[in-house]
Amino acid sequence: MSYEENIRKVVPYVAGEQPKDKTIIKLNTNENPYPPSPAVQRAMKELSENKEFPDTRLYPDMDAAPLVDALAKKYGRNTDEIYVGVGSDDVLSMCFLTFFNSDKPVLFPDITYSFYDVWADLYRIPYKKVPLDDDLSIRKEDYLGENAKANGGVIFPNPNAPTGILMPVSDIEEIIAANSGSIVIIDEAYIDFGGESVMPLIDKYDNLIVVQTFSKSRAMAGMRIGFAVSNAKLIKYLRDVKFSFNSYTMNLPSIVCGAEAVKDDEYFREITGRIIKTRDNFEKELRRLGFSFRDSGSNFVFCTHPRMSGKEIFTKLRDRNIYVRWWDRDRIRGYLRITIGTDEQMENVVKALEEIL
Ligand SMILES: Cc1ncc(COP(=O)(O)O)c(C=O)c1O
Repeated sequence: MSYEENIRKVVPYVAGEQPKDKTIIKLNTNENPYPPSPAVQRAMKELSENKEFPDTRLYPDMDAAPLVDALAKKYGRNTDEIYVGVGSDDVLSMCFLTFFNSDKPVLFPDITYSFYDVWADLYRIPYKKVPLDDDLSIRKEDYLGENAKANGGVIFPNPNAPTGILMPVSDIEEIIAANSGSIVIIDEAYIDFGGESVMPLIDKYDNLIVVQTFSKSRAMAGMRIGFAVSNAKLIKYLRDVKFSFNSYTMNLPSIVCGAEAVKDDEYFREITGRIIKTRDNFEKELRRLGFSFRDSGSNFVFCTHPRMSGKEIFTKLRDRNIYVRWWDRDRIRGYLRITIGTDEQMENVVKALEEIL
């Protein structure tokens, strides 16, 4: 027997490139083009100037209390209804492990965040990819009726990624109601760019988990902070699994800076508002250039051009030091996902596209 047989082999998630060259216009991983709140910068400075810091002898607060308290206050929830983790990837991964423990398949769209099938494979969770319709929308009917009885859970992002298409809250509510026998996770990584969160439905349905991140709207991808909101019972199950895995996931600077970011609601609204405005202007320019796309509810646009392949536009933009995302995958090969940067960055993209097309 070879030891190879005893090894867990997985095909890992492939993240967007992180080039070192700072002159590159980097619009490939949906990061925020603005700095985090000045309150975060102040908190970092205070931490670094504190003589006690870095006091690396002690473990960090395993309940991440300052961060959990700030989130509870901001969203009007109790602290036992909030769970925090190292980016929403960490939170979602723990959710898969905790809530998708069935022989029945977990349902998610065929075109969606490509980490879902990686976690399912890693944890050996059966799953079924539900095709989007021809318009790349999630069809709510696919998650109702008989399908709702025969699944081990449901997860999808709203707005979906990489399409950017928002599903109305009323449609999501139908799905949550129809799937009362399983857990429904709504991944709201991009909800702050104009969408309506389903978080209030937590009071109405006991099978709903809402996951959000600080990586996009709060400009803190580098600090790795994500959170889940649900009823206290489900959050307890999630914590029990997490504390059976690794008690101390969140480091001290992330806890402190994350809390400060949440408290600065004015700055949060300012930068998300700016990104929405830039997106709307960029969409007008894309239309003028002949691209087609669905209205985006996120900080990116997923677009296709009738005259040139996705790969060719991607490569030509890259030659001009503009990085966007393209996937060599059925149904979406013709598309590019372009993150919304600053006005100046998007003007450069438009100029480059004018040359390319
Ligand atoms: C739909 C979706 N969910 C979750 C994440 C994970 O974000 P993070 O781990 O940075 O919070 C991403 C990242 O791009 C995403 O697109």
